[in-house]
Amino acid sequence: MSMKVLMLPGDGIGPEVMHEAEALLEEIAAQHSLDLQLDTALIGGAAMDATGAPLPEETLQACREADAVLLGAVGGPKWSDPNARVRPEQGLLELRKALGLFVNLRPIRVHPSLAPISPLRPEFVADVDVMVVRELTGGIYFGEKQEGDDHAVDVCSYTREEIERVVVQAAELARQRCGGLTLVDKANVLATSRLWRKVTTELMTNRYPDVPFETMLVDAASMHIVANPSRFNVLVTENLFGDILTDEASMLVGSMGMLPSASLGKDRAGLYEPIHGSAPDIAGQGIANPVGMLASVGMMFRYSLGIREVAGRIERAIWSAIADGQCTPDIGGSLTTRAAGEAVRERLGEYYIPKFAYG
Ligand code: IPM
Ligand code: MG
Repeated sequence: MSMKVLMLPGDGIGPEVMHEAEALLEEIAAQHSLDLQLDTALIGGAAMDATGAPLPEETLQACREADAVLLGAVGGPKWSDPNARVRPEQGLLELRKALGLFVNLRPIRVHPSLAPISPLRPEFVADVDVMVVRELTGGIYFGEKQEGDDHAVDVCSYTREEIERVVVQAAELARQRCGGLTLVDKANVLATSRLWRKVTTELMTNRYPDVPFETMLVDAASMHIVANPSRFNVLVTENLFGDILTDEASMLVGSMGMLPSASLGKDRAGLYEPIHGSAPDIAGQGIANPVGMLASVGMMFRYSLGIREVAGRIERAIWSAIADGQCTPDIGGSLTTRAAGEAVRERLGEYYIPKFAYG
């Protein structure tokens, strides 16, 4: 069976980490005799330079035809004029919306050997294993906008259906992981948050009475994420809060470069990207950490391609390379992006049991 994977390298360090994802896919395809069809298309600033649009029609069409899409990163100083009408980030937002990818999974785990590089004390982060489930196609990101010189408006809107479909995914994950679910909202101030709380509480009471459930205000949650991160198991929240909390939570791991994500909709096809940005400050230096990108490839095998065994091999290889210190400077190693990618590929066959698997 042939599987189509579309790669969107994007901007900044995007192409550098995508290079390692491609090499990993080629190695996996050879070892497992998989018929993987790899293609590349433009997105973000790179697409604006070539075509004027951050998500060219041709790219969207190729995404619709793919079994899974891998994305590097979008954006950079070249395109960041606040007065510009078109911005690279619009390409990514349009793509998530057009493909109906309403749920975003962001697993956060700390490798034991990396606990010392976390800005928090190692004993606080060593047991962290949190899955953040972020709503991805609604809320203030996609509400009506008005932009004037003296007045601007961003509307935040959610429907019951938009909330339910995300919470169901989060509750299923919590049940699989035998953990609890925390809804993060701002129900003491926002009407949309009160709807999230009402709908989620009903759903958890009626359909998931076996899953421990709590609600938490977003300001308190941002404090608990650094004060006592291992108290969380699955966290579900709206688009904007999820964006902010996952950058915060990535610091538990010590580097933004470590974390993968999966964006999923009704069908199997999904979009997989590291949660880091285009990192213009280090772009072109060959030192970007490829782990978030490679772990995203792992998630792709798990959720879109349905080959869990390969997902497990990739995850074990990543953890083994890190345990050996075969990694980039941001996490205490001295390897280049390419050498760190190779260290992971070399370990694909090793027997190494991680604490938990991503997802
Ligand atoms: C993310 C990013 C995006 C977001 C940007 C690039 C639009 O920060 O995936 O977390 O805000 O969703
Ligand atoms: Mg973000």
